[in-house]
Amino acid sequence: MTHRSLLILPGDGIGPEVMREVRRIVDWMGEKRGLVFDVEEDLVGGCAYDAHGAAISDATMARALEVDAVMLGAVGGPKWDGVPYDVRPEAGLLRLRKDMELFANLRPAKCFDALADFSSLKRELVEGLDILIVRELTGGVYFGEPKTITDLGDGQKRAIDTQVYDTFEIERIAAVAFELARVRANRVCSMEKRNVMKSGVLWNEVVTATHKARFADVELSHMLADAGGMQLVRAPKQFDVIVTDNLFGDMLSDVAAMLTGSLGMLPSASLGAPDPKTGRRRAMYEPVHGSAPDIAGKTLANPIACILSFAMALRYSFEAGAEADRLEAAVERVLTDGVRTPDIMGDSGGTPADTRQMGDAILAALDASM
Ligand code: IPM
Ligand code: MG
Repeated sequence: MTHRSLLILPGDGIGPEVMREVRRIVDWMGEKRGLVFDVEEDLVGGCAYDAHGAAISDATMARALEVDAVMLGAVGGPKWDGVPYDVRPEAGLLRLRKDMELFANLRPAKCFDALADFSSLKRELVEGLDILIVRELTGGVYFGEPKTITDLGDGQKRAIDTQVYDTFEIERIAAVAFELARVRANRVCSMEKRNVMKSGVLWNEVVTATHKARFADVELSHMLADAGGMQLVRAPKQFDVIVTDNLFGDMLSDVAAMLTGSLGMLPSASLGAPDPKTGRRRAMYEPVHGSAPDIAGKTLANPIACILSFAMALRYSFEAGAEADRLEAAVERVLTDGVRTPDIMGDSGGTPADTRQMGDAILAALDASM
């Protein structure tokens, strides 16, 4: 049997609740489809800080570097608002991204037909929406140095964040976007702010050159990131793949998420470069939603984003595309049948479900798929 290792980091808030449902699906894949995983669980975020005084321990980090894939729930919450900046819960997530060199963050925003009425836009604008945001994840202002607050001594302080990109960083994320576009609708839109930022000028130059040299068969367009945000809420279906930097990608992916009806639905994959020897990419999969402390512990959370993140893991880390399709179809089935966690209930008249019942329904749909 092939060895498949999975490190599960449920994290804080609703992370553990939604990950419990993923765990049942992982087990289902082992029992019913012969896809057996070696699963380990560990701490990240505020819970890791409480246990070790760090948002991720060195030992957990070392395991993350060894396994085939990491599944992460969510980190953070008001309980840790006062902890030092360097050990805040988010630092665990950022260290995972940086140390695993997960430069490519894939955030699909797909509108399920059954949920089109939940979108903040009119149904006809989002029906059939299927876009993919490819966000650069290990560079830019998130990690650029200097990153400081200095006391200027006259009652003033100065805060500095540094936006920095090298050619190779832009080139490799652009290549990921072009490659993915080729198996989709073959269109890439690159977004930056070349009208005010030098990093935007270079971004635009390198994406254009990469396109010309290696991906001329893909349709490429460029947009200023502010106009891109406007177009995303005006006519989102014009986009196929959007490629953008770390900070713009953070914002634009939240916007895109809301177009699909609920933040509780969106998965993501963060990938590294393929290993030159084995071809294997380091990878981490996580829902786009956060730890939602307001509903944590009440079993109200929608586990679908986390479950769909596991579907992405099946596809990108475990060469199990058919099982990923099966899991995505099971989610679609359940939504069409009207099973609804509170975030997607509205006045739809569907069948109310808590976190566990949504998991039950998806498992039943998986059973029915065989
Ligand atoms: C995201 C989140 C993170 C980010 C936070 C939690 C650090 O918003 O994954 O989009 O800003 O990247
Ligand atoms: Mg974000």
